[in-house]
Amino acid sequence: MSEEPAQESDLEKIEIHLLLEGIFRRYGYDFRNYSYASIRRRIWHRIHLEGLSNVSALQERVMHHSEVFHRLLSDLVIPVTEMFRDPEIFLTFRNEVVPLLRGLPYIRIWHAGCSTGEEAHSMAILLHEEGLLDKTRIYATDISENALQRAKDGIIPIDRMKLYTKSYQAAGGMQSFSDYYTSDDGIVMLKPFLRTNMVFARHNLVTDRSFNEFHVILCRNVMIYFNSQLRGQVHKLLHDSLAKEGFLIVGNKESISHTPLEDSYETMNDQYRIFRKTR
Ligand SMILES: C[S@@+](CC[C@H](N)C(=O)[O-])C[C@H]1O[C@@H](n2cnc3c(N)ncnc32)[C@H](O)[C@@H]1O
Repeated sequence: MSEEPAQESDLEKIEIHLLLEGIFRRYGYDFRNYSYASIRRRIWHRIHLEGLSNVSALQERVMHHSEVFHRLLSDLVIPVTEMFRDPEIFLTFRNEVVPLLRGLPYIRIWHAGCSTGEEAHSMAILLHEEGLLDKTRIYATDISENALQRAKDGIIPIDRMKLYTKSYQAAGGMQSFSDYYTSDDGIVMLKPFLRTNMVFARHNLVTDRSFNEFHVILCRNVMIYFNSQLRGQVHKLLHDSLAKEGFLIVGNKESISHTPLEDSYETMNDQYRIFRKTR
């Protein structure tokens, strides 16, 4: 990624503020409370790629040319993901959470910020092996249409198969990972039965509301890109969307400490960031 200028000027701050305000008013995407350092880096990356020299020049392009906005949008959302990412979390989920879900007549799980779907498919594999997939509905949502389209296709990069096989095993996988995909002409596709009870939808955690009540919500590696005010706001949305005694799982560098709702959860597993709603 191209370098942003080492010195932040007051003028540049005003320009970035105006650009983000303009994007919100023109396109409805609200990045105003994303972490500033990360947004700044990505804006400069786009400025260099477009052959421009400052933020105002990018603003002019973004406001008048929606294709430039869409290129900037794909820089601003960071789709990095993996199957069974941090496999110990899936193993802990299998051992500690699954036994508590068994008694429910029906299970609803929300992957908020699902990216290209690897996390939701990993969950589907785990639930299939635990005999719970048929009574579960998995909602996989993201702000990015591109990411969602890839999630719906269920195609995973062939060069990641070795890593994913290892992670599947480390997550307590009971079969062979190859039971879950087909490979044809160098294209690896996760089997469609995993998606039977999966709903993909565009949902923006910043501007959209709660849309259901869930027994489990995973929102991993999404709020790290938000400032603390926005994290508080999104935690409220997640809390409103979680059933009593439901489980919230955040990324391994994230926490609910220092958010206004930390007292509404008990820590079920501190190391793997699994919390249970108490009120
Ligand atoms: C780094 S990925 C994390 C994917 C997955 N949860 C994981 O941990 O592997 C972050 C995802 O959050 C999505 N995202 C960013 N801002 C969002 C928002 N306001 N609402 C919903 N999704 C958002 C991005 O599009 C991206 O797909």
